[in-house]
Amino acid sequence: MKFVLVAGARPDFMKIAPIMEAFRGRREAEVLLVHTGQHYDQKMSRDFFTDLGIPEPDMNLGIGSGSHAQQTGRIMMAFEGICLAQRPDWVTVVGDVNSTVACAITAKKLGIRVAHVEAGLRSRDMAMPEEVNRICTDAVADLLFTTDVLANDNLRREGVPDERIHFVGNTMIDTLLRHIDRARSLPLPDGLVAGGYAVLTLHRPSNVDREEVLSGILEAIREVAEQMPVIFPAHPRTAQNLRGLGIHCNISVTEPASYIPFLGLVANARLVVTDSGGIQEETTVLGIPCITMRPNTERPITCELGTNILAGNDPAGIREGIRSVLRGGVRKASVPPRWDGHAAERIVQVFLDGHSFSG
Ligand code: UD1
Repeated sequence: MKFVLVAGARPDFMKIAPIMEAFRGRREAEVLLVHTGQHYDQKMSRDFFTDLGIPEPDMNLGIGSGSHAQQTGRIMMAFEGICLAQRPDWVTVVGDVNSTVACAITAKKLGIRVAHVEAGLRSRDMAMPEEVNRICTDAVADLLFTTDVLANDNLRREGVPDERIHFVGNTMIDTLLRHIDRARSLPLPDGLVAGGYAVLTLHRPSNVDREEVLSGILEAIREVAEQMPVIFPAHPRTAQNLRGLGIHCNISVTEPASYIPFLGLVANARLVVTDSGGIQEETTVLGIPCITMRPNTERPITCELGTNILAGNDPAGIREGIRSVLRGGVRKASVPPRWDGHAAERIVQVFLDGHSFSG
């Protein structure tokens, strides 16, 4: 059987790496890795391939940045050519970025079966581009690999038959568990001591594209910065929008960090303040308090079982979240079921051995 695996943006690389590894040595599978090029900077792409030991992609579509329609449309046109030339049995997409939906729809319309890894997550916020991507991808997927029981429920409610849903666990956590020892052994940047600093990440257009929103968030972060150093690896979009804004002297803005150094930073932090999706899951597994600057999350399991607090993006809510963590208000977290480092193996068992994983 021939499989095309698709990755395009930074969070995809951690999800695809263990799947590539689980396929290795399975002679019955021919696997091709396609990089759409949605992310292309060294620090947003190549460094992750190096850190995670992902082989060089078989094809890079070199799509780059653009409006949603431009980016999605360009990926579809380029990916159609690959599908026609390669005629895979399966196209596997991960997560919820524009590359995910573009490749899923393209494959489906050519009659190629589609598998979606990280299916069924829902924020119920259609103003979020990723929610549109998730819903459209799941609507065309033949196999839906889920990370948690709430995702299974979401899909069942939408009418997806049970036999298409496989509750395999979380491939991003497979990657975390493979690399955590190495990450913890790295020295921290100068001036940071374990348990004595905060990590900040911000990249959602809804948080960084409007100056008044971004300034309000930075103002709320003073609450932490007055008590401990804050390290802020900034996404290129954010870095551009930070120019000219006043930033507290205890916040150090750096370039985007690659995977293993970033994991080390998070694992040793006192708290993390973020608007990322994946970091909500990573902090849950690491037991590090996480304040999420969004009004909703597609990963509510991280609030139910984990360390995540949804704080919204207005300064008062963020300050309140920070205060409650610094007062010691986060309960002990537990790790969601099947976030055990074996999700990718289960995916390959479904594909090649016909196993089913219900939940
Ligand atoms: C994308 C995903 C988002 C994910 C995020 C992780 C979509 C709709 N969004 O958002 O879900 O959380 O990736 O980072 O797919 N840029 C660079 N260098 C790069 C990549 C991007 O400078 O290598 C800059 C460009 O100015 C670009 C902007 O970042 O226009 C946005 O990039 P884009 O891929 O459109 O979306 P992200 O905000 O990264």
